[in-house]
Amino acid sequence: MTNWCMFAFTPNVDILHMSYMRILSGIQPSGVLHIGNYFGMMRPAIALQAEGEAFYFIADYHALTSVRDPTMLRENSRRVALDFLACGLDPERAALFQQSDVPQVTELAWILSAVAPMGLLERSHSYKDKLARGLAATVGLFNYPVLMAADILIYDSDVVPVGKDQKQHIEITRDLAVKMNETFGSEPDGWIFKLPEPRIQAATEVVPGIDGQKMSKSYGNNIDIFGDEKETRKRVMSIVTDSAPVEAPKDPSGSTIFQLYSLVASKDEVAEVREQFQKGGTGYGEFKKQLFEKLWEHFAPMRKRREEMLADRSYIDNVLARGAERANEVADQVMKRVRSAVGLR
Ligand code: AMP
Ligand code: TRP
Repeated sequence: MTNWCMFAFTPNVDILHMSYMRILSGIQPSGVLHIGNYFGMMRPAIALQAEGEAFYFIADYHALTSVRDPTMLRENSRRVALDFLACGLDPERAALFQQSDVPQVTELAWILSAVAPMGLLERSHSYKDKLARGLAATVGLFNYPVLMAADILIYDSDVVPVGKDQKQHIEITRDLAVKMNETFGSEPDGWIFKLPEPRIQAATEVVPGIDGQKMSKSYGNNIDIFGDEKETRKRVMSIVTDSAPVEAPKDPSGSTIFQLYSLVASKDEVAEVREQFQKGGTGYGEFKKQLFEKLWEHFAPMRKRREEMLADRSYIDNVLARGAERANEVADQVMKRVRSAVGLR
Protein backbone atom coordinates (compact mmCIF):
# COMPACT_ATOMS: atom_id res chain seq x y z
CA MET A 1 0.00 0.00 0.00
CA THR A 2 1.43 3.33 -0.98
CA ASN A 3 1.20 6.63 0.83
CA TRP A 4 -1.20 7.72 -1.86
CA CYS A 5 -3.93 5.71 -0.20
CA MET A 6 -3.23 7.26 3.14
CA PHE A 7 -3.76 10.67 1.57
CA ALA A 8 -6.89 9.47 -0.14
CA PHE A 9 -8.42 8.12 3.04
CA THR A 10 -7.30 10.65 5.59
CA PRO A 11 -10.02 13.21 6.27
CA ASN A 12 -9.87 16.80 7.32
CA VAL A 13 -6.15 16.68 7.94
CA ASP A 14 -3.82 18.96 6.08
CA ILE A 15 -0.89 16.58 5.78
CA LEU A 16 1.52 19.23 4.53
CA HIS A 17 0.93 21.46 7.54
CA MET A 18 0.33 18.74 10.06
CA SER A 19 1.71 19.79 13.43
CA TYR A 20 -0.45 17.40 15.36
CA MET A 21 0.65 13.81 15.66
CA ARG A 22 -0.66 10.99 17.77
CA ILE A 23 1.97 8.61 19.04
CA LEU A 24 1.18 5.20 20.47
CA SER A 25 3.09 2.27 21.85
CA GLY A 26 2.61 -0.66 24.19
CA ILE A 27 4.75 -2.95 26.26
CA GLN A 28 3.83 -6.34 27.66
CA PRO A 29 3.93 -6.84 31.42
CA SER A 30 5.30 -10.33 30.94
CA GLY A 31 8.40 -9.77 33.06
CA VAL A 32 10.96 -7.31 34.30
CA LEU A 33 12.06 -4.62 31.84
CA HIS A 34 15.59 -4.83 30.45
CA ILE A 35 17.86 -2.37 28.72
CA GLY A 36 16.83 -3.77 25.32
CA ASN A 37 13.28 -2.60 26.10
CA TYR A 38 14.67 0.72 27.29
CA PHE A 39 16.87 1.60 24.32
CA GLY A 40 14.66 -0.13 21.72
CA MET A 41 11.29 1.24 22.74
CA MET A 42 11.01 3.19 26.00
CA ARG A 43 13.63 5.85 25.37
CA PRO A 44 12.40 6.67 21.84
CA ALA A 45 8.81 6.71 23.13
CA ILE A 46 9.77 9.07 25.95
CA ALA A 47 11.61 11.34 23.50
CA LEU A 48 8.54 11.47 21.24
CA GLN A 49 6.14 12.52 24.00
CA ALA A 50 7.13 16.14 23.40
CA GLU A 51 6.24 15.96 19.70
CA GLY A 52 2.55 15.22 19.80
CA GLU A 53 -0.12 13.54 21.83
CA ALA A 54 1.25 10.29 23.20
CA PHE A 55 -0.63 7.20 24.35
CA TYR A 56 1.46 4.50 26.04
CA PHE A 57 -0.07 1.41 27.50
CA ILE A 58 0.68 -1.76 29.41
CA ALA A 59 -0.40 -4.60 27.16
CA ASP A 60 -1.96 -6.90 29.75
CA TYR A 61 -4.41 -8.54 27.31
CA HIS A 62 -1.40 -9.46 25.19
CA ALA A 63 0.50 -10.80 28.19
CA LEU A 64 -2.34 -13.28 28.81
CA THR A 65 -0.96 -15.24 25.86
CA SER A 66 2.06 -16.17 27.97
CA VAL A 67 1.43 -15.35 31.66
CA ARG A 68 -0.79 -17.80 33.54
CA ASP A 69 -0.39 -16.44 37.06
CA PRO A 70 -2.91 -13.65 37.90
CA THR A 71 -0.91 -12.28 40.83
CA MET A 72 2.17 -12.07 38.68
CA LEU A 73 0.27 -10.33 35.87
CA ARG A 74 -1.08 -7.71 38.27
CA GLU A 75 2.31 -7.14 39.91
CA ASN A 76 4.19 -6.95 36.63
CA SER A 77 1.66 -4.49 35.21
CA ARG A 78 2.19 -2.16 38.13
CA ARG A 79 5.91 -2.54 37.95
CA VAL A 80 6.03 -1.73 34.23
CA ALA A 81 4.04 1.44 34.96
CA LEU A 82 6.46 2.36 37.74
CA ASP A 83 9.55 1.66 35.64
CA PHE A 84 8.24 3.54 32.62
CA LEU A 85 7.46 6.59 34.77
CA ALA A 86 10.84 6.36 36.51
CA CYS A 87 12.54 6.31 33.11
CA GLY A 88 10.98 9.64 32.19
CA LEU A 89 7.47 9.08 30.88
CA ASP A 90 5.71 12.32 31.74
CA PRO A 91 2.04 11.73 32.58
CA GLU A 92 1.31 15.41 31.92
CA ARG A 93 2.29 14.88 28.30
CA ALA A 94 1.52 11.20 27.68
CA ALA A 95 -1.47 9.14 28.72
CA LEU A 96 -0.24 5.99 30.46
CA PHE A 97 -2.87 3.29 30.93
CA GLN A 98 -3.56 -0.41 31.09
CA GLN A 99 -4.80 -1.98 27.89
CA SER A 100 -7.63 -3.79 29.71
CA ASP A 101 -9.00 -0.47 30.98
CA VAL A 102 -10.14 0.09 27.38
CA PRO A 103 -12.04 -3.14 26.72
CA GLN A 104 -13.49 -1.76 23.45
CA VAL A 105 -10.17 -2.76 21.92
CA THR A 106 -11.22 -6.42 22.05
CA GLU A 107 -14.40 -5.52 20.16
CA LEU A 108 -12.33 -3.86 17.46
CA ALA A 109 -10.02 -6.89 17.36
CA TRP A 110 -13.08 -9.06 16.61
CA ILE A 111 -14.25 -6.75 13.85
CA LEU A 112 -10.77 -6.73 12.31
CA SER A 113 -10.52 -10.50 12.57
CA ALA A 114 -13.63 -10.76 10.41
CA VAL A 115 -11.66 -9.30 7.48
CA ALA A 116 -8.15 -10.49 8.39
CA PRO A 117 -6.86 -13.01 5.84
CA MET A 118 -5.54 -16.21 7.44
CA GLY A 119 -2.51 -16.12 5.15
CA LEU A 120 -1.47 -12.72 6.52
CA LEU A 121 -1.33 -14.05 10.06
CA GLU A 122 0.22 -17.35 9.02
CA ARG A 123 3.21 -15.38 7.79
CA SER A 124 3.80 -13.78 11.21
CA HIS A 125 7.40 -14.31 12.36
CA SER A 126 6.62 -13.64 15.98
CA TYR A 127 3.99 -16.41 16.10
CA LYS A 128 6.46 -18.90 14.67
CA ASP A 129 9.23 -17.69 17.01
CA LYS A 130 6.99 -18.02 20.03
CA LEU A 131 6.01 -21.59 19.11
CA ALA A 132 9.69 -22.39 18.60
CA ARG A 133 10.35 -21.09 22.13
CA GLY A 134 7.78 -23.49 23.53
CA LEU A 135 4.66 -21.34 23.98
CA ALA A 136 1.37 -23.19 23.46
CA ALA A 137 -0.17 -22.73 20.00
CA THR A 138 -3.33 -20.95 21.17
CA VAL A 139 -5.84 -18.99 19.10
CA GLY A 140 -4.89 -15.92 21.16
CA LEU A 141 -1.24 -16.21 20.20
CA PHE A 142 -2.17 -16.61 16.54
CA ASN A 143 -4.53 -13.65 16.74
CA TYR A 144 -2.01 -11.48 18.60
CA PRO A 145 -1.27 -9.19 15.60
CA VAL A 146 -5.00 -8.50 15.16
CA LEU A 147 -5.31 -7.30 18.75
CA MET A 148 -2.18 -5.24 18.26
CA ALA A 149 -3.69 -3.70 15.10
CA ALA A 150 -6.80 -2.83 17.15
CA ASP A 151 -4.57 -1.20 19.80
CA ILE A 152 -3.06 1.05 17.20
CA LEU A 153 -6.11 1.82 15.07
CA ILE A 154 -8.50 2.52 17.94
CA TYR A 155 -6.52 5.68 18.82
CA ASP A 156 -6.11 6.95 15.23
CA SER A 157 -2.35 6.63 15.79
CA ASP A 158 0.09 8.25 13.38
CA VAL A 159 3.40 6.97 14.73
CA VAL A 160 4.32 3.80 16.61
CA PRO A 161 7.78 3.73 18.26
CA VAL A 162 8.91 0.10 18.64
CA GLY A 163 11.95 -2.15 18.31
CA LYS A 164 12.65 -3.85 14.98
CA ASP A 165 11.00 -7.12 16.04
CA GLN A 166 7.61 -5.34 15.94
CA LYS A 167 7.96 -4.02 12.39
CA GLN A 168 5.97 -6.83 10.80
CA HIS A 169 3.13 -6.22 13.27
CA ILE A 170 2.84 -2.62 12.08
CA GLU A 171 2.82 -3.82 8.48
CA ILE A 172 -0.04 -6.20 9.33
CA THR A 173 -1.84 -3.28 11.03
CA ARG A 174 -1.52 -1.20 7.87
CA ASP A 175 -2.78 -4.07 5.74
CA LEU A 176 -5.82 -4.50 7.98
CA ALA A 177 -6.53 -0.77 7.96
CA VAL A 178 -6.44 -0.75 4.16
CA LYS A 179 -8.67 -3.82 4.02
CA MET A 180 -11.21 -2.14 6.31
CA ASN A 181 -11.06 1.10 4.33
CA GLU A 182 -11.55 -0.75 1.06
CA THR A 183 -14.32 -2.97 2.40
CA PHE A 184 -16.34 -0.49 4.43
CA GLY A 185 -15.14 3.01 3.57
CA SER A 186 -17.27 4.82 1.00
CA GLU A 187 -15.32 7.45 -0.89
CA PRO A 188 -14.74 10.38 -1.07
CA ASP A 189 -14.69 10.83 2.70
CA GLY A 190 -15.79 7.49 4.02
CA TRP A 191 -12.41 6.43 5.39
CA ILE A 192 -12.29 4.47 8.58
CA PHE A 193 -8.68 4.18 9.64
CA LYS A 194 -5.46 6.14 9.28
CA LEU A 195 -2.36 4.23 8.24
CA PRO A 196 0.20 4.31 11.07
CA GLU A 197 3.97 4.47 10.56
CA PRO A 198 6.49 2.52 12.62
CA ARG A 199 9.31 4.57 14.18
CA ILE A 200 12.36 2.37 14.61
CA GLN A 201 15.65 3.81 15.84
CA ALA A 202 18.41 2.50 13.60
CA ALA A 203 21.05 2.70 16.34
CA THR A 204 19.08 0.62 18.81
CA GLU A 205 16.95 -1.53 16.60
CA VAL A 206 18.38 -4.68 18.18
CA VAL A 207 20.15 -4.36 21.53
CA PRO A 208 22.35 -7.43 22.11
CA GLY A 209 22.17 -9.47 25.31
CA ILE A 210 25.12 -10.81 27.29
CA ASP A 211 25.49 -13.75 24.89
CA GLY A 212 25.51 -11.48 21.82
CA GLN A 213 22.01 -12.56 20.65
CA LYS A 214 19.07 -10.13 20.74
CA MET A 215 18.48 -9.22 24.38
CA SER A 216 15.33 -10.96 25.55
CA LYS A 217 13.94 -12.12 28.84
CA SER A 218 13.13 -15.47 27.32
CA TYR A 219 16.76 -16.07 26.28
CA GLY A 220 17.99 -15.34 29.81
CA ASN A 221 20.59 -12.91 28.38
CA ASN A 222 19.05 -9.72 29.77
CA ILE A 223 20.49 -6.87 31.82
CA ASP A 224 17.58 -5.36 33.73
CA ILE A 225 17.07 -1.59 33.94
CA PHE A 226 16.54 -1.71 37.68
CA GLY A 227 18.47 -4.81 38.64
CA ASP A 228 20.45 -4.56 41.89
CA GLU A 229 24.07 -3.52 41.76
CA LYS A 230 25.63 -6.90 42.44
CA GLU A 231 23.49 -8.74 39.90
CA THR A 232 23.98 -6.06 37.24
CA ARG A 233 27.75 -6.18 37.71
CA LYS A 234 27.70 -9.96 37.50
CA ARG A 235 25.69 -9.86 34.29
CA VAL A 236 28.00 -7.32 32.67
CA MET A 237 31.09 -9.27 33.73
CA SER A 238 29.66 -12.40 32.09
CA ILE A 239 29.23 -10.86 28.62
CA VAL A 240 30.55 -13.40 26.11
CA THR A 241 33.67 -12.36 24.18
CA ASP A 242 36.17 -14.02 21.88
CA SER A 243 39.43 -15.25 23.40
CA ALA A 244 41.73 -12.43 22.23
CA PRO A 245 44.51 -11.93 24.83
CA VAL A 246 45.03 -8.59 26.62
CA GLU A 247 47.75 -7.35 24.27
CA ALA A 248 45.89 -8.15 21.02
CA PRO A 249 44.02 -5.48 19.02
CA LYS A 250 40.27 -6.11 19.19
CA ASP A 251 37.42 -5.47 16.78
CA PRO A 252 34.94 -3.04 18.35
CA SER A 253 32.28 -3.52 15.68
CA GLY A 254 31.60 -7.16 16.58
CA SER A 255 31.79 -6.63 20.33
CA THR A 256 28.70 -6.70 22.57
CA ILE A 257 30.64 -4.74 25.19
CA PHE A 258 31.35 -1.97 22.70
CA GLN A 259 27.79 -1.91 21.38
CA LEU A 260 26.34 -1.54 24.86
CA TYR A 261 28.98 1.00 25.83
CA SER A 262 28.02 3.10 22.79
CA LEU A 263 24.47 3.34 24.14
CA VAL A 264 25.46 4.93 27.44
CA ALA A 265 28.71 6.82 26.88
CA SER A 266 29.37 10.21 25.28
CA LYS A 267 30.74 10.51 21.73
CA ASP A 268 34.24 11.25 23.01
CA GLU A 269 34.20 8.34 25.43
CA VAL A 270 33.04 6.01 22.68
CA ALA A 271 35.83 7.25 20.38
CA GLU A 272 38.38 6.70 23.12
CA VAL A 273 37.24 3.15 23.86
CA ARG A 274 37.16 2.36 20.16
CA GLU A 275 40.80 3.38 19.98
CA GLN A 276 41.67 1.28 23.04
CA PHE A 277 40.02 -1.72 21.38
CA GLN A 278 41.95 -1.25 18.15
CA LYS A 279 45.26 -0.50 19.80
CA GLY A 280 45.39 -3.63 21.98
CA GLY A 281 46.81 -3.71 25.50
CA THR A 282 43.46 -3.64 27.32
CA GLY A 283 41.62 -6.85 28.27
CA TYR A 284 37.92 -7.48 27.95
CA GLY A 285 37.60 -7.57 31.76
CA GLU A 286 38.70 -3.94 31.92
CA PHE A 287 36.24 -2.90 29.21
CA LYS A 288 33.45 -4.69 31.05
CA LYS A 289 34.26 -2.75 34.23
CA GLN A 290 34.07 0.53 32.31
CA LEU A 291 30.76 -0.55 30.79
CA PHE A 292 29.29 -1.42 34.17
CA GLU A 293 30.28 1.98 35.61
CA LYS A 294 28.69 3.84 32.70
CA LEU A 295 25.52 1.76 32.78
CA TRP A 296 25.11 2.18 36.51
CA GLU A 297 25.64 5.92 36.23
CA HIS A 298 23.25 6.22 33.28
CA PHE A 299 20.32 4.80 35.23
CA ALA A 300 21.15 6.48 38.57
CA PRO A 301 18.70 9.41 38.26
CA MET A 302 15.96 7.00 37.20
CA ARG A 303 16.66 4.74 40.19
CA LYS A 304 16.29 7.75 42.43
CA ARG A 305 13.00 8.81 40.85
CA ARG A 306 11.76 5.24 41.16
CA GLU A 307 12.51 5.17 44.89
CA GLU A 308 10.58 8.41 45.34
CA MET A 309 7.58 7.09 43.46
CA LEU A 310 7.59 3.86 45.43
CA ALA A 311 6.96 5.88 48.55
CA ASP A 312 3.59 7.10 47.23
CA ARG A 313 1.40 4.16 46.23
CA SER A 314 -1.54 6.22 45.08
CA TYR A 315 0.58 8.10 42.53
CA ILE A 316 0.65 5.28 40.00
CA ASP A 317 -3.03 4.47 40.48
CA ASN A 318 -3.90 8.09 39.78
CA VAL A 319 -1.71 8.25 36.69
CA LEU A 320 -3.25 5.06 35.30
CA ALA A 321 -6.80 6.21 36.05
CA ARG A 322 -6.25 9.54 34.29
CA GLY A 323 -4.60 7.81 31.33
CA ALA A 324 -7.48 5.36 31.02
CA GLU A 325 -9.98 8.18 31.00
CA ARG A 326 -8.27 9.94 28.12
CA ALA A 327 -7.78 6.69 26.18
CA ASN A 328 -11.45 5.80 26.59
CA GLU A 329 -12.55 9.16 25.22
CA VAL A 330 -10.68 8.60 21.99
CA ALA A 331 -11.51 4.89 21.72
CA ASP A 332 -15.23 5.62 22.15
CA GLN A 333 -15.18 8.13 19.31
CA VAL A 334 -13.35 5.80 16.97
CA MET A 335 -15.58 2.84 17.82
CA LYS A 336 -18.65 4.91 17.04
CA ARG A 337 -17.22 5.50 13.58
CA VAL A 338 -16.31 1.83 13.13
CA ARG A 339 -19.61 0.43 14.35
CA SER A 340 -21.50 2.73 12.09
CA ALA A 341 -19.29 1.88 9.09
CA VAL A 342 -19.67 -1.89 9.42
CA GLY A 343 -23.40 -1.89 10.19
CA LEU A 344 -23.54 -2.43 13.95
CA ARG A 345 -25.84 -0.36 16.06
P1 AMP B 1 8.92 -7.18 24.60
O1 AMP B 1 9.64 -7.24 25.89
O2 AMP B 1 9.38 -8.22 23.62
O3 AMP B 1 7.43 -7.12 24.78
O4 AMP B 1 9.33 -5.80 23.91
C1 AMP B 1 8.86 -4.53 24.27
C2 AMP B 1 9.44 -3.48 23.35
O5 AMP B 1 10.86 -3.46 23.49
C3 AMP B 1 9.18 -3.74 21.86
O6 AMP B 1 8.99 -2.51 21.17
C4 AMP B 1 10.43 -4.39 21.39
O7 AMP B 1 10.69 -4.17 20.02
C5 AMP B 1 11.50 -3.70 22.25
N1 AMP B 1 12.63 -4.60 22.47
C6 AMP B 1 12.63 -5.75 23.19
N2 AMP B 1 13.85 -6.33 23.18
C7 AMP B 1 14.65 -5.52 22.42
C8 AMP B 1 16.02 -5.56 22.01
N3 AMP B 1 16.84 -6.53 22.41
N4 AMP B 1 16.49 -4.57 21.23
C9 AMP B 1 15.68 -3.55 20.83
N5 AMP B 1 14.38 -3.45 21.17
C10 AMP B 1 13.86 -4.41 21.96
N1 TRP C 1 3.61 -6.55 20.70
C1 TRP C 1 4.33 -5.57 21.44
C2 TRP C 1 5.55 -6.25 22.10
O1 TRP C 1 5.57 -7.42 22.32
C3 TRP C 1 3.49 -4.93 22.52
C4 TRP C 1 2.31 -4.23 21.93
C5 TRP C 1 1.00 -4.61 22.00
C6 TRP C 1 2.35 -3.03 21.13
N2 TRP C 1 0.22 -3.74 21.32
C7 TRP C 1 1.00 -2.76 20.78
C8 TRP C 1 3.37 -2.18 20.71
C9 TRP C 1 0.68 -1.65 19.98
C10 TRP C 1 3.03 -1.07 19.91
C11 TRP C 1 1.70 -0.82 19.55
O2 TRP C 1 6.47 -5.57 22.39
